[in-house]
Amino acid sequence: MNKVFLNGKLLPVDDAKISVLDRGFIFGDGVYELVPVYSRVPFRLEEHLARLERSLGEVKIRNPYSRAQWREHIHALVDAQPFEDQGVYFQVTRGVAKRDHAFPRNVEPTVFMMANPLVNPPQAQVERGGAAVSAPDNRWLRCDIKSISLVGNVLLRQLSAEADAAETILFRDGNLTEASASNVFIVRRGVIQSPPKGNLILPGITYDVIAELAHANQLPLEFRSISEAEVRSADEVWVTSSSKEVFPIVSLDGKAIGDGRPGPVFRRMYELYQEFKQKVMRAGKREAVSAA
Ligand SMILES: Cc1ncc(COP(=O)(O)O)c(C=O)c1O
Repeated sequence: MNKVFLNGKLLPVDDAKISVLDRGFIFGDGVYELVPVYSRVPFRLEEHLARLERSLGEVKIRNPYSRAQWREHIHALVDAQPFEDQGVYFQVTRGVAKRDHAFPRNVEPTVFMMANPLVNPPQAQVERGGAAVSAPDNRWLRCDIKSISLVGNVLLRQLSAEADAAETILFRDGNLTEASASNVFIVRRGVIQSPPKGNLILPGITYDVIAELAHANQLPLEFRSISEAEVRSADEVWVTSSSKEVFPIVSLDGKAIGDGRPGPVFRRMYELYQEFKQKVMRAGKREAVSAA
């Protein structure tokens, strides 16, 4: 049975038990990360850990581990799995306490981690591209925190699931924010564009990789506010995330984006992304590799 990590121990998933009073269960009071692992090499681990530290700081949950301890626990979990490519999920909640909204005193945060086989979009799907639907972004105003309180994102993702589409692209006050579980890029006249970081989007680790790859390969890229009309009339639309990597959206609400096929800038970026992954895998577990 798959081994998971709970509060310092690796154990079979069926033996991992937490209290029903855990504030993650009662309030969704916690934060999380998902790190892709290729051939047992975590991709951009330091950046994921930095984002976790930031999320913990923003919600005022004590970080139970040092950077070195996090790395050690994650590598042990990765090594305990029988498969090579993994999606390592980890979450920290405020801990177990009598139900009361205000923070409890002197509680230990609960740390849970699991590794699942990593499922990236298959090649055939990448070549075809996927459909998306749109919806008003009605989530809270701290989308920069990777909170486990995901009911807003869950309801929005369900809209695309019910339409047999890959993602739900979100607009707030007439402008693009992100998608239900990914960031969004568009291409207009050869220029890659995406909304700037701020409280309305999650600062994606993949979003940063795309920016670095564009910069290192002289592909023009701008972070700017993008209107709904600009998305609908874009030449290309992509979504990015740790599990989707970079994925082309070829229709929005049933209307073709560009010519309805993955575009040339997407194909170039996809190739750069795959090359970069290979470079990271070759460098091995403990090395940070830059896209430049
Ligand atoms: C709402 C949202 N935006 C963006 C992303 C992409 O982030 P990353 O590239 O770090 O996976 C995610 C990933 O889960 C997400 O849930």
